[in-house]
Amino acid sequence: MIEVIRGDITQLRLDALVNAANESLLGGGGVDGAIHRAAGPELKAYNRRLGGCPTGEVRISPGFKLPARWIIHTVGPVWHGGDRGEPALLESCYRNSFALALEYQVRTIAFPGISTGVYAFPKDQAATIAVSVMRDYEDRFERIIACCFSEEDERIYLNLLRS
Ligand code: APR
Repeated sequence: MIEVIRGDITQLRLDALVNAANESLLGGGGVDGAIHRAAGPELKAYNRRLGGCPTGEVRISPGFKLPARWIIHTVGPVWHGGDRGEPALLESCYRNSFALALEYQVRTIAFPGISTGVYAFPKDQAATIAVSVMRDYEDRFERIIACCFSEEDERIYLNLLRS
């Protein structure tokens, strides 16, 4: 079951939230900043021991003060026009997040729009990639949530899921 929710991902009480992190995993702005603020300082201390994360890959941490049990940190590609492997790297963020979630018996998971903020990946292309991977994993999770932060994002996902 794929759902579209508009709101702040840090409020969701789920098995796992996916974070759009950077390679340091030590926090930043956007959803990364919101997740670190809500999870508390233990998250940064925990992630410091992970030694970073390459673009396209994932690492997992506890949710600490978040209502969610786990945080799956993934590093999306920075958009440079689309001919530096950005689409494939973004797809691997989603696939690797689902694979790690299955290893941790996660049944309910929410994704922000990875790479579509500071990293400037075009929202419609990113959502098309996200939904195609979500559909591949749809029957292995109870709830897959696309957590949109703006009405524009929500409309893009709803139109894709209707088609
Ligand atoms: N809940 C859900 N979605 C959010 C939230 C939130 N609280 N805050 C922001 N977003 C949305 C943005 O509107 C955007 O659609 O998350 C999407 C991803 O945007 P960014 O957070 O800017 O992430 P990204 O584009 O992947 O850039 C990652 O930004 O914050 C830094 O440390 C991060 O360096 C990394 C870079």
